[in-house]
Amino acid sequence: MQRAAAKLLLLIAAVVVGSLSVFTHALQRSHESAAGNGTTSCRPHESDALLAFKHGITKDLHGLLASLRSGQDCCQWSGITCSRHGHVVKLDLNRTLGDPPLVGQISLSLLSLEYLEYLDLSGNFLQGLPHLFGNLTKLEYLNLSNSSFFGSLPPHLGNLSNLRYLDLGRMQTLYSSDISWLTNLHVLEYVDMSNINLSTVVDYPLVVNRIPTLKHIRLDGCSLPSANQSIPRMNLTSLEDLDF
Ligand SMILES: *[C@@H]1O[C@H](CO)[C@@H](O)[C@H](O)[C@H]1NC(C)=O
Ligand SMILES: *[C@@H]1O[C@H](CO)[C@@H](O)[C@H](O)[C@H]1NC(C)=O
Ligand SMILES: *[C@@H]1O[C@H](CO)[C@@H](O)[C@H](O)[C@H]1NC(C)=O
Ligand SMILES: *[C@@H]1O[C@H](CO)[C@@H](O)[C@H](O)[C@H]1NC(C)=O
Ligand SMILES: *[C@@H]1O[C@H](CO)[C@@H](O)[C@H](O)[C@H]1NC(C)=O
Ligand SMILES: *[C@@H]1O[C@H](CO)[C@@H](O)[C@H](O)[C@H]1NC(C)=O
Ligand SMILES: *[C@@H]1O[C@H](CO)[C@@H](O)[C@H](O)[C@H]1NC(C)=O
Ligand SMILES: *[C@@H]1O[C@H](CO)[C@@H](O)[C@H](O)[C@H]1NC(C)=O
Ligand SMILES: *[C@@H]1O[C@H](CO)[C@@H](O)[C@H](O)[C@H]1NC(C)=O
Repeated sequence: MQRAAAKLLLLIAAVVVGSLSVFTHALQRSHESAAGNGTTSCRPHESDALLAFKHGITKDLHGLLASLRSGQDCCQWSGITCSRHGHVVKLDLNRTLGDPPLVGQISLSLLSLEYLEYLDLSGNFLQGLPHLFGNLTKLEYLNLSNSSFFGSLPPHLGNLSNLRYLDLGRMQTLYSSDISWLTNLHVLEYVDMSNINLSTVVDYPLVVNRIPTLKHIRLDGCSLPSANQSIPRMNLTSLEDLDF
């Protein structure tokens, strides 16, 4: 009789302990998910960097940056995406057709967004030193197409070894005589340099053949002297389209 009571007691204890642990697990999960959306907020220095970026903009035709205000969580601002840890990983300043939506100077503070993986400034009229984009080494996507950078295409972009998409298209104001830095981009799938003056680049077929991951190559309007040469295709097994 006493044995049976002891067994029952043990059973009850086991059930209590079991459900307690289920309960604490549930509690933990709810804490985690709350941290996942509700309470993870932007890092202060990344918020400051975005505000400094906004400060450099002199004209914002469509109010793209209107939601960037100090004292508010920058992860909630439009055009910004944060990681689970509150780092800014995506800055997408979408343009609409027509006038350039943003005009101004790119603040150096942008480089403080060191976790940035996706940067789209296409279609805007922004001044700055494009070689500095080479410091944002986590970038996987960089779209500067149809923006206003000018001068020599900076080889520093070759430091962006995580880059999969590079769109520098429709920038007649850029030129380059050496694009060999592209071969440092070992995971590059998409490259658009259309309309950049590459008239002095002689080895373009050799360069692209050293990037086997390439699927899309756009080099139309580049005045490539070697455009009539066939690419030694053995490496480009993933190639889907080639425009030049
Ligand atoms: C977090 O987001 C997910 C999906 O977006 C949602 O299902 C969940 O309820 C949210 N949790 C909290 C605490 O807001
Ligand atoms: C930018 O455009 C894409 C699709 O064109 C859209 O999914 C995204 O939400 C837009 N971002 C902003 C900040 O408007
Ligand atoms: C390029 O930008 C200009 C001015 O921002 C705009 O008018 C034009 O439509 C854009 N072109 C393309 C192809 O996006
Ligand atoms: C870059 O942005 C332009 C619009 O400004 C868009 O047409 C183009 O598809 C984008 N490039 C990539 C690789 O997504
Ligand atoms: C860019 O990166 C290099 C090397 O890490 C560093 O020396 C330089 O100061 C950086 N530039 C800026 C403007 O942060
Ligand atoms: C980036 O690339 C440039 C030119 O290729 C080089 O001089 C510079 O040292 C590189 N910077 C870093 C941080 O790797
Ligand atoms: C391209 O650059 C070359 C050499 O710098 C120059 O002679 C030529 O006029 C340029 N082409 C265009 C279309 O600007
Ligand atoms: C093929 O790609 C590899 C790796 O990028 C490179 O070392 C090799 O030289 C390329 N082969 C040719 C024929 O270009
Ligand atoms: C390519 O064009 C150049 C002149 O632009 C010519 O000298 C050369 O022979 C051509 N090469 C081939 C393979 O057609």
